[in-house]
Amino acid sequence: METALQRFLPPPEIVPERLHRAMRYAVLGGGKRVRPLLAFAAGELAQADPARVEIVAAAIEMIHAYSLVHDDMPCMDNDVLRRGKPTCHVEFDEATALLVGDALQPLAFQILTENVVADDAGTQLEMLKVLALASGSRGMAGGQAIDLASVGKTLSLPELEFMHIHKTGALIRAAAVLGARCGRGLGSSEFDRLERYAKTVGLAFQVVDDVLDCEASTATLGKTAGKDAAQAKPTYVSILGLAGARELAEELRAEAHAALASFGGDAARLRALADFIVLRRF
Ligand code: IPE
Ligand code: IPE
Ligand code: MG
Ligand code: MG
Ligand code: MG
Repeated sequence: METALQRFLPPPEIVPERLHRAMRYAVLGGGKRVRPLLAFAAGELAQADPARVEIVAAAIEMIHAYSLVHDDMPCMDNDVLRRGKPTCHVEFDEATALLVGDALQPLAFQILTENVVADDAGTQLEMLKVLALASGSRGMAGGQAIDLASVGKTLSLPELEFMHIHKTGALIRAAAVLGARCGRGLGSSEFDRLERYAKTVGLAFQVVDDVLDCEASTATLGKTAGKDAAQAKPTYVSILGLAGARELAEELRAEAHAALASFGGDAARLRALADFIVLRRF
């Protein structure tokens, strides 16, 4: 994945050098790469060619990396540490961080149009739409808008779930869907089960992110711990408490496994990722 991302990103010596350096800074050398891993795991379920999955995984990771750059900016969460390094706007400047997002987002779509990732053009066009919907105002960006509008408020559980499913779940779901779409067409019931899995682990991912913000250290997270409480963000921890949020994550892990129950060994990596997403410590 690291090599693929290197290849797709503009070289640092090409004009405008500073923007290209900042884009590479934001994407390379850090991050758990959970969305790419999910794309590869779902690709395995559909016997997808890994060379294709690598392309969709890189596109999703670019959108994700840009979302982190903007999430950290002073107008959003105002964070100084990300992936163990100064955040993009601290290392560079705010205007550059804004432009990194402006440039990474279209680059993601560019690589999905320049490379063949599906057997037919119609499927590939649908895949572009999946990524567009997951990234926009009815997906990640919309979830981020709700997050910012919710500061200092107490959300109901359904409202909190709605926010999390959008700000984090949407891209995670897209990773699994796009990975699978690189391969043979799954039957509609197989696809429904994969989607149910992806929606569940997408929510679980943010529940655990909330837990770790409260429970883990800045050193292990590579980002400032305790920010949610300090900024009065409604989270699963603020609403259910730490034990309640952990319990919910466990329930979601069981639900994710249940969604995969009728799949065989082809779903082994998806199962392992459900475990990683819930049991991770960083
Ligand atoms: C952090 O995502 C932001 C959320 C959507 C919760 P990750 O925890 O996947 O961040 P990296 O990519 O590993 O740094
Ligand atoms: C960020 O959620 C979600 C997106 C970037 C879309 P958080 O604000 O909780 O992520 P961290 O904790 O800063 O990584
Ligand atoms: Mg945020
Ligand atoms: Mg944040
Ligand atoms: Mg967080």
